[in-house]
Order: sequence, then structure tokens, then C-alpha cells
Amino acid sequence: MPAVLENFSLSGKTVLVTGGSSGIGRQIALSCAEAGATVLVTGRNEQRLAEVLREMGQGHHRSFVADLSVDAQLEQLSKDVGVIDGLVHCAGHAALAPVRMVSRAHIESQMDTNVVGPLLLTRHLLQRNAIQKNGSIVFISSIAAHIGVQGVAVYSASKAAIESMTRCLAMEVAKKAIRANCLAPGFVETPMLRALEATTGGVADTIARYPLGIGEPEDVANAAIFLLAPASRWITGTTLILDGGHTIG
Ligand SMILES: NC(=O)c1ccc[n+]([C@@H]2O[C@H](COP(=O)([O-])OP(=O)(O)OC[C@H]3O[C@@H](n4cnc5c(N)ncnc54)[C@H](OP(=O)(O)O)[C@@H]3O)[C@@H](O)[C@H]2O)c1
Repeated sequence: MPAVLENFSLSGKTVLVTGGSSGIGRQIALSCAEAGATVLVTGRNEQRLAEVLREMGQGHHRSFVADLSVDAQLEQLSKDVGVIDGLVHCAGHAALAPVRMVSRAHIESQMDTNVVGPLLLTRHLLQRNAIQKNGSIVFISSIAAHIGVQGVAVYSASKAAIESMTRCLAMEVAKKAIRANCLAPGFVETPMLRALEATTGGVADTIARYPLGIGEPEDVANAAIFLLAPASRWITGTTLILDGGHTIG
């Protein structure tokens, strides 16, 4: 393989993907496996995790059932996975409510999955020295952290929190040559988008404002591979927006 392409390979690396049982996380797991990584997938749905494991085919890939909103389960997960090179925090929860109707449960369920879980899982792994030198941590944020959209205040806040946290984490782990970055996608064709469509009665008007159309999970997976691979070794603490031009329009 030409040296320039080797920089984009994940050969010899072990990558943990949360939210690997569905949508974007599932595709990141499959693409990382195709790029040569040993992939560890986690989620709550055992059956869908088993399907992803089967789709990844040969290799030492493994799956772990864990609810990231339960402290004991995420701590156990950090022990079970062993030493890793890459970590993709893709598990996420989105719920709609205008601010005048938000409840503590609405806030906590999204903050737990989108902020507290990823932060504590990272903490446990760092504390155990389980992320190798030259490792890469990728958080899946959202363009919701950057724009104003009615009904998603808590979700937006959770993603903005993860982006600002990433900048601080990047400073803390740089001494070990570990990097931390975010990907902020716009609409991506997944079960989460279909659920949003069902709740709001349609998102066609918004989709029409995507100059390049909405994304496929592969579009996010390609960017995740870049951030996990040596090709991005000088990039840390940043957020890459993936939205087909939606937010510049
Ligand atoms: N789709 C979009 O348009 C879009 C746009 C911007 C950002 N994002 C972000 O991209 C990420 C993936 O979203 P998606 O569209 O792929 O959604 P999805 O298909 O609904 O998948 C969500 C994943 O998160 C996991 N998950 C949720 N709560 C969890 C918990 N408490 N513990 C462990 N795992 C949990 C689910 O696992 P189980 O199913 O096994 O429970 C599932 O694998 C999320 O962070 C989302 O905010 C999505």
C-alpha cells in the first residue's frame, strides 16, 4: 500500500465504538473493521450488537452490552475492553421539548447519555491507562450545538457541552500524544432521524435546505476513520462539521 494511504489505515489498532448497535455507530464499527481495526462495539441491544459483530466478519471483534447511563455498567465496560487505541463516543439520545415544557427527567436522560456517560467512560479508561500513546478519542456532537432550532434546547446543550469538554480533554491528554476531537453532523439517515420525523410530522422543509442533501452513516464513518488514523496526528481539540453545507446557507 502507498505510504500516503497507510496513514489512513487502522491496521493493528483496537477501537471501541459506543452506540455501535445502530445508525452512525454501527457504520463506524463496520468501517473501522474494514479499515483494519479490531473493533469493540457496545450498546444496550444485545441482538443488534450480535448482528453488527456478525457483519464485521473475521477478526477479534467483540461486543459488550452496557447502558452508559448506569455508572456500574460503564465502569465494568472500561475494565472489560482492555487496552485500546481509539474510542468513538457515538451513543446518544435525542428528545424534543420546548424550554417551557422541559422536565428534570427530560434534561437528565439526555445529559446522562450524551455528556455524563461519555465523560465518565473516558475518565475510567484514562485512569486505567487503557488508552495507548498516540490514541484518538472521537465524540459525536451535532450541528445542533451551533445553531438555534426550536424544541432541541437540551440536546443542543448536551452537544455543546461535549465540544467544550473535548477542548479541555485535548489539553490534558496531549502529554501522552492522545488526541480528542468531535464530529458534528447535520441530518444523517438513521433510526434517530426517522424517530424525529415521526414526532415532528416531517422534516422535508429542513432537508430541502441541505445543499448536498442529508448524510449517510458512511459519511460520518469516513470522517471518524480520518480522526482515528495517523493521517490526523496533528489535529486535536477541534470539531469538524459534516452537514452538506446546511449551516453555511
Ligand atoms: N442521525 C442524525 O441525524 C444525527 C445528527 C447529528 C448527530 N447525531 C448523533 O450521532 C449519534 C448516533 O446517532 P444515530 O442517529 O446513529 O442514532 P441511533 O440509530 O438511534 O443510535 C443511537 C445509539 O446510541 C445507543 N444508546 C442510546 N442510549 C444509550 C445508553 N444509555 N447506553 C448505551 N447506549 C445507548 C443506542 O444503543 P441501543 O439501541 O443498543 O440501546 C444506539 O446504538 C448520537 O450521538 C446522535 O446524537 C445524529
